[in-house]
Amino acid sequence: MKRKTVYLTLTLIILSLIQGCEKNTNQGDSATIKQNTKAPPAMAAIAISDSYGAQVSQDILNAGGNAVDAAVAAGFTLAVTFIDAGNIGGGGFMTIKMGDEIAFLDYREKAPLAAHKDMYLDAEGNVIDNITLIGAQAVGVPGTVAGFWKAHKKFGKLPWKDLLNPAIKLARDGFMPAPALVDNVHRLKGQFVGKTNFNTYFASMKVGRLFKQPELAKTLGRIAKSGADDFYRGETAALIVKEMQASNGLITAEDLESYRAVWREPVRAKWREYEVISAPPPSSGGFAIVQLLKMKDYLDDSFQGVEHNSAQYIHLVAEMDKRVFADRAEHLGDPDFFDVDINTLISNDYVSKRAAEINPTAISPLTSINPGLESPNTTHYSIVDQWGNAVSNTYTINWDYGSGVVVGGAGFLLNNEMDDFSAKPGVPNIYGVVGNVANEIQPGKRMLSSMSPTIVLKDGEVEMVLGTPGGSTIFTTVFQVIINILDFGMTPIEAIGATRFHHQLVPIDLITYSGYTIGRPLPEQTIKELANKGYRSEPHAFEYGDVQIIMKDGDSWIAASDPRDRGESRVFDVISKTLDH
Ligand code: DON
Repeated sequence: MKRKTVYLTLTLIILSLIQGCEKNTNQGDSATIKQNTKAPPAMAAIAISDSYGAQVSQDILNAGGNAVDAAVAAGFTLAVTFIDAGNIGGGGFMTIKMGDEIAFLDYREKAPLAAHKDMYLDAEGNVIDNITLIGAQAVGVPGTVAGFWKAHKKFGKLPWKDLLNPAIKLARDGFMPAPALVDNVHRLKGQFVGKTNFNTYFASMKVGRLFKQPELAKTLGRIAKSGADDFYRGETAALIVKEMQASNGLITAEDLESYRAVWREPVRAKWREYEVISAPPPSSGGFAIVQLLKMKDYLDDSFQGVEHNSAQYIHLVAEMDKRVFADRAEHLGDPDFFDVDINTLISNDYVSKRAAEINPTAISPLTSINPGLESPNTTHYSIVDQWGNAVSNTYTINWDYGSGVVVGGAGFLLNNEMDDFSAKPGVPNIYGVVGNVANEIQPGKRMLSSMSPTIVLKDGEVEMVLGTPGGSTIFTTVFQVIINILDFGMTPIEAIGATRFHHQLVPIDLITYSGYTIGRPLPEQTIKELANKGYRSEPHAFEYGDVQIIMKDGDSWIAASDPRDRGESRVFDVISKTLDH
């Protein structure tokens, strides 16, 4: 009898182990828990754009949530407190390492079904001023809520509503807006006067006074109750359509109903002893970072002894950037509409050929750069949980406060992501980047992005998690930060605080730099030496980049937030604590 009980118990244990394995290999959308089963490294880390996001992510991890739970809760929180870029009216990308599984979620906005190639051109065929930036015509079908819902369904551990509660409270009871946010709102509100309802919602914001968003609290409450259904098919969907009709926008109930976030294969490339995992098309970010990292190694001889941020260093990197931007303009677009041969574009063969074209001593003329086969409102955050799982998330409403259109009755801003399409071949968008057929407007198509949420692995484990806002400067920034750490021996905070520079093929021979508002412009001497080589150098039109990075440090992590903005980073021992309901 006793022996029978032992057998039965053993059988039950084996069965439950088999079931556990099945759960962990399930690729579907069911609410399975993907958890790293190894002994937890115990320390968790967060690098995020504001202190509210940091606190909520930490609370979620302390409550037993994993990195995806924390990322979803942080995303909803920033939609309330980091109005500059946190959003439910935009879209983004999430790169995930959960246990041994690597996943990439594309929740980028889409062109409405009524959109068409020449929709922004006047009778003479010129792009109409500001139409892709301000007002309802500029809005792409939002993807954030669908993305967070999908990420949570596949990987989440805590109940969905627990991830929204902190954001609901902050919207309902108010939060203390950061001085930088208040300044920014008041500096930019003028551009929306008489064009959108932005000022009705945000112009009353003051430093030192709680800012409450009752309509947004209700919207988040409905999403907490009904999930993505509310946003795409329920009351929120109806309010979006009503706003579109009132503001002459294109998005219909059918656009919302048919929107889907999608799992995609991320860009994965071996580089030195690392594996780089980043955003695939419709982002150009992953392709660009891998091209830059590999090209630099093929040019190792030319880089030998070249000092960090010296004129020669900037010249070599600018030559690499040019080629990346030429490929971006010609070959990158939404893979559901345009064939992108990403494997060739990041192959050693192809990149070594591109590296060989670089002239280490002189600027290559613009005409010789043919494609071989490109303060605003984006934010990035990086999270590593106590099990070593990681999320790298970048999401956006694009340019300053998106389209400036707030969904009446629902209280959230809508993006102006349509500007990321090429409205006309060769005509630069707000980031100065040009495009062609690959990125022309088509109904239901995703606009090309530069967002690059990145995870770097070493021996299969997380080594770095990083990303940044900055439009077309995003991947040149991520590249420079990785190189600052690995080739110049900088700490993460030094690497992200350093002066950064950028070149993007056009404008011709122009180097711009970021770091001037924190006392780190390019030195005059370097500017002179670059001028001798034929470059103009000037501060970038906006102080670009707000890098949030986590890096492995023995058994623990280093987390760092860009000194350019109000990010907060934390490394902490996870304690078991229940959530405040
Ligand atoms: O997807 C893109 O590349 C842009 N819409 C990102 C915008 C951005 O980074 C603005 N922040 N500075």
